[in-house]
Amino acid sequence: MKKIAILCGDGIGPEVMKEAVKVLDTVQKKYSFNLEYKYADVGGYGIYKHGTALPDKTLKSCEAADAILFGSVGGPQWEHLPPEEQPERASLLPLRKRFNLYCNLRPAKIFKSVVASSPLHPSIVKEGFDILCIRELTGDIYFGQPKGREGAGFSERAFDTMVYTRAEIERIAHIAFAEARKRRKLVTSVDKANVLTTMVFWREVVTEVAEEYPDITLKHQYVDNTTMQLIKDPHQFDVLLCGNMFGDIISDECAMITGSMGLLASASLNEKKFGLYEPAGGSAPDIAGQGIANPIAQILSAAMMLRYSLDQSDAADAIEAAVEKVLSEGLLTIDLSRGKLKSINTSEMGNSIVTKIINGER
Ligand code: NAD
Ligand code: IPM
Ligand code: MN
Repeated sequence: MKKIAILCGDGIGPEVMKEAVKVLDTVQKKYSFNLEYKYADVGGYGIYKHGTALPDKTLKSCEAADAILFGSVGGPQWEHLPPEEQPERASLLPLRKRFNLYCNLRPAKIFKSVVASSPLHPSIVKEGFDILCIRELTGDIYFGQPKGREGAGFSERAFDTMVYTRAEIERIAHIAFAEARKRRKLVTSVDKANVLTTMVFWREVVTEVAEEYPDITLKHQYVDNTTMQLIKDPHQFDVLLCGNMFGDIISDECAMITGSMGLLASASLNEKKFGLYEPAGGSAPDIAGQGIANPIAQILSAAMMLRYSLDQSDAADAIEAAVEKVLSEGLLTIDLSRGKLKSINTSEMGNSIVTKIINGER
C-alpha cells in the first residue's frame, strides 16, 4: 500500500485538502487501490501545536511516504516572527531542499467553459492556451548564499545572492526539452540576460542543452517581456522554462489568466519522481474560513500525484475529466463566477467532482 503524507497547513489549506481527500477516496474505490494517509502538522499550525513550522514528526512522515500532498502555509498571523521562523521559510522551502525537489511543473491550461472567468479579453482567450510552466525550485536567489543584513542594528544593508550552477541549469533544461517533445515542441526560456550575469550564464547553458534536441525550437525571452506577452497572446507559449524567482512570478500570472489562482496545480519532483504536490497559490487569508475557496488546484495536484508518483494514471485522468465536466456545466466557485453568476462553495465543488467520477462521466 502506498503511503501519502498529508500536510494541510494554514488558511484555506485544510478546507481545500478535505475536498482533495474526498476525491482520492473516490478514485481508490473506483480503481481498486489503497492509499494510507498520514496527516502531519506544518506551517503556522505546526508552530501553534509544536512550536515549529516543520516538526520532526512531520519530516519523518514525509520521509516514510511515497508522496507528499501539501496545502499551503503562511499568513499575517506569523508575519511578526523572525523571517527564518515564518512558515514559508521554515517549512516549505526546507522540504523542497530536503527532498531535492528541483523540478516544479505548473500546467496552465484554460478550460473552454471558463473562458469568461479569465481577466483577459475573450478575443485573446478564444483560441485557448495550454502552457506548461517549468520552474527550477531549489536554486537561484531563494537559496543562494550569502544572504544577510549588515550595519548598525543590521539596518544599513541587506543582500541575497542570485546563483546557478551549470548542473542545476542543465537538469531543468533537459526536463523542459523532454516535456516539449511530448507537446508543441517549443521552449521559451525566460531570463534577464540583459542585466544579470547569472542569467547570461542561464541563457548560455540552456542554448547548449538545446543542441541535443534539434527537433525543439528554443526561444529566449526577457522576463519583463514575458509578463506582457502572456497577457497579449498566451497561445504563443508551449513550455515556459524559468528559474526559481521568475517562475514564481510568472506562474501566478499563468494561473490567473486561466481564470483563477485556485485552478493551478503543481508537482515538485526530484530525480526519483518523489514529489510534493501543492496548489501554486497560497493560504488565501482574505477568504480563509468562509468555505468558499476553490478546491480545484488542490484536487488537480492530487491527480498529478497519482500520475507522477503513484502510477495511477487512469485515476488521474478520471479526476481531470471530472473537473472539466463540472466546469462545463457552469458549476463555479465564486472566484470563477466573478460575482456575476450563481456560485457553489468549496464542499459543493468537491462533491460535484466526486459525483462525476463515480458516474464515470466524461
Ligand atoms: P495567495 O495565493 O494566498 O492569494 C492571492 C489571491 O488569490 C487572494 O485574493 C486569494 O483569495 C486568491 N486565491 C488563492 N487561492 C485561491 C483558491 N483556491 N480559491 C479562490 N481564491 C484563491 O497569495 P498571498 O495572499 O500573497 O499569500 C498569502 C499567504 O500564503 C502568504 O503567507 C504567502 O507567503 C503564502 N503562500 C503560500 C504558498 C504555499 O504554501 N505553497 C504559496 C503562495 C503563497
Ligand atoms: C509558491 C510560493 C512559495 C515560493 C512561497 C510560499 C515560499 O509562492 O510556491 O509559489 O515562493 O516558492
Ligand atoms: Mn508563488
